[in-house]
Amino acid sequence: MTAWINLSVNGGPVEVEVDPMRRLADVLRDDLGLTGTKIGCNAGDCGACTVRIDGRQACACLVPVAQAAGADVRTVEGLAPVAEPTGFADLAALQRAFLEAGAAQCGICTPGMLMAADDLLERDPVPTEAEIHDGLGGVLCRCTGYRKIIEAVQASAADVGSSPPPTGPAVGSRLPKVDGLERVTGAAAFGADQRPDGMLVVRAVRSPHARARFTIGDLGPLRERHPGLVLVLTAADIRGQNRYGIYATGKDQPALADGQVRHRGEAILGLVGDEATIDAISDGELPITWEPLAALADMDHALAADAHQLHDHAPANILIRGRVARGDVDAVRAQPGLVTAEVDVETTFVEHAYIEPEAGHARRVGDRIELFVSTQTPYMDRDETALVLGLRPDQVRIIPSAVGGGFGGKLDLSVHPLIATAAWLTGRPVRAVWTRPESMAASPKRHPARIHAWAAATPDGDVVGFRFHGDFDTGAYASWGPTVANRVPVHATGPYEVPNVLATTRAIHTNNPPAGAFRGFGVPQAAIAHEALMDDLAARLGIDALELRHRNAIRAGSRTATGQLIRASAGLPACLDALRLQWARLRADAATFNAVAATRGSALRRGVGIGAMWYGIGNTSMTNPSTIEVGLDRDAVVTLYSGAVDIGQGASTVMVQIAADALGVAPAAIQLVSGDTDRTADAGKSSASRQTFVSGNAARLAGEDLRRQLLRLAEVEDTAAGDATIELADGRAIITEPNRPAVAIDLAELPAVGATDPGATPVLLGRGTYDPTTTPLDADGQGDPYETYAFGAQLALVEVDTELGTVKVVRMVAAHDVGRAINPTQVEGQIHGGIAQGLGLALMEAYVPGRTENLHDYLIPTVGDMPEIECLLIEDAEPAGPYGAKGVGEPALVPTAPAILGAIHHATGARITTLPATPDRVLAAIHAVATAGS
Ligand code: FES
Repeated sequence: MTAWINLSVNGGPVEVEVDPMRRLADVLRDDLGLTGTKIGCNAGDCGACTVRIDGRQACACLVPVAQAAGADVRTVEGLAPVAEPTGFADLAALQRAFLEAGAAQCGICTPGMLMAADDLLERDPVPTEAEIHDGLGGVLCRCTGYRKIIEAVQASAADVGSSPPPTGPAVGSRLPKVDGLERVTGAAAFGADQRPDGMLVVRAVRSPHARARFTIGDLGPLRERHPGLVLVLTAADIRGQNRYGIYATGKDQPALADGQVRHRGEAILGLVGDEATIDAISDGELPITWEPLAALADMDHALAADAHQLHDHAPANILIRGRVARGDVDAVRAQPGLVTAEVDVETTFVEHAYIEPEAGHARRVGDRIELFVSTQTPYMDRDETALVLGLRPDQVRIIPSAVGGGFGGKLDLSVHPLIATAAWLTGRPVRAVWTRPESMAASPKRHPARIHAWAAATPDGDVVGFRFHGDFDTGAYASWGPTVANRVPVHATGPYEVPNVLATTRAIHTNNPPAGAFRGFGVPQAAIAHEALMDDLAARLGIDALELRHRNAIRAGSRTATGQLIRASAGLPACLDALRLQWARLRADAATFNAVAATRGSALRRGVGIGAMWYGIGNTSMTNPSTIEVGLDRDAVVTLYSGAVDIGQGASTVMVQIAADALGVAPAAIQLVSGDTDRTADAGKSSASRQTFVSGNAARLAGEDLRRQLLRLAEVEDTAAGDATIELADGRAIITEPNRPAVAIDLAELPAVGATDPGATPVLLGRGTYDPTTTPLDADGQGDPYETYAFGAQLALVEVDTELGTVKVVRMVAAHDVGRAINPTQVEGQIHGGIAQGLGLALMEAYVPGRTENLHDYLIPTVGDMPEIECLLIEDAEPAGPYGAKGVGEPALVPTAPAILGAIHHATGARITTLPATPDRVLAAIHAVATAGS
């Protein structure tokens, strides 16, 4: 039943004929085309759909449109004073402040955040931080750590205006995101933001069982009941290989299960039809017969002698083992006079909880298929989709949508196989948008880890032996399990030079959801172990915990556990030096606080902890090249063709900054084509913290190549200082060298040259390819797995309620050696976001297979959970890096949980090693310490 509903939207009258119970969010997006209002959960948990209704913020997904009848509805599209903003000057002060502060990363939460802030500022033009917490508390952000959002709201309240564009070198400047405008206006098209004409939708039918066999009965009656059901996809419809996966030897995940499922949430059918039909079909009317089987719920069950084996290629359910061995740990164990420490760590599944669920659409174009999808890895998606469809890779085009957060979770295929297969078979565009429960059931997770580690040090404090073993629950399919198993042993010692090391790992299959890539590939779990050991050793040795880390820190000239000689850019000592004063001051303050609290009978106790990290940039011992192109056309327009997908981390801005300096033009002179596999060369995955270092080098080489070509045409020799200037205007390039007349090149007279983009007609094209120098690891894990490493250390100040077990992180100080901060605002944003996710890992995040379904019972940090954060950027330039840069995306997260756990220990004497440190665990640990001491 429909009815006519009248309302005002962004100041204009609107009349729609809809079901009165239809969600306002759907009416805005689907009926009115206002896709600036995003949907992250459809349950009022994430706040991405926040709009203003008669002035007050509300989740549009919870409001039936009838309830908004006669109301004044404001969306992000109505925020700017002009209808179609094209620049800073067209924006509202709040939007400008978000851009200036770097408050929008991926941008999926930004419209909701802006509307909540708009509401707040109208009621309270100069809000305090606590009032901002209240005002924005209903909107979740998974990227920014909220600090820059708070900063932006405060700046907007003060209306400080925009800073002028940088005039000097682009590298090192705080250039606002080059793709920021569309994020603060709601114009960025995320995976669910396009609805092609004539489209069908596909919905996966998923297993309610962790392990089962199934049969599908007669689908005829279902088709008769639902004439709009165009197709029911089964495993038999998969045209190519019904097994995909990251590694050539690990292609084990079916697009549609064929008779048996290995985890809850695995897809078995794809229902294809018009939207209303597919919505109307309930799982209960499907002719599926299930035979549930005993499932392996955890690693103990998977390793039991009588456990069933999930895959032929994983005997005893062990997918892969990792190993690094150096020196003789057994000899160290037998050595008298050493001080030793030992720890057991257990972590759980962690959900990426990006605010944008998996989404996209596919269309068949002749004998090719085009996918518009949310992805971190377009070329890998292209190849995997081709495999599933039985096509050549060049028959598949991946057009990345704006990505509403990835963190590793969008490195695996998601909607791709079903939308592509359905579009291929029907010849019509096919769209899929995963629901939040579907995303939580079917997307990969952070690996739960069970780690035992031991370390020994001389009485002087030299760590001389380290033994580590970690088991990782890799779930039902391989995904990125091999990467975790191989990366962890390399990093197991932490950022310390230890001569005798044995580090081993196993990735173990269970009937849990696949565990894959998640910001750090297992290194954050390992860091909890090595940092607990360092704290324990320091206490036993009577050496300050920061100084013990400094003494053992890997530095230039050190050899790592894999035998790699670190030649340069190893800034951990500098990071620790930068933290030293605050370390002493915060601990002294905590001691004073605790003394006063004890006097007053308060249950609150404060503590300060430290965590240190290192992280190899790029793939482990594997080629991972990037290629970038920069074209100059007849109109003197420079176009950067970058396949380095921006998932919110700022890759697009970084590539533009680097290319601009390499070429010698202003960033504003460069237009960007990003990520389309038909238009950009392969720049690899946006993962492993590799884009700044690897693709950044490619962008630098491409810019330099184009500059060289231009200068050669002008017969100008560049100096090392790059004194020659390039001016581009009116179809001409004007090259000026000191003390010589300018030379003008008429670009229209040059013939067009080829580029990866078949539609491009540059007259000059610079091309750069960079592949980090690595070597394979031998059987003992010896070799050079990465060309460079990031280093960092963080301090955490926490307040523990020793009666309730609650932990409040009060302050974080983060020192990170990033080589060179290409864009300090973005580097800080990455550090803030990493700390937020590290805080979640430490204190609250736990995904329980089969139980966790939404963002209501899966807790991630809100704005009110975030502490003050001080960032200290250490620039120990990497000689091989673009302008010295390395990477910071994953490094920012790694030391946070260890620092917080160390701080809890400092405050209470209780060492939490089973994560997350929920109040019940904290209380139990405090009681255990009290009992042991009584
Ligand atoms: Fe907030 Fe990505 S910027 S979720």
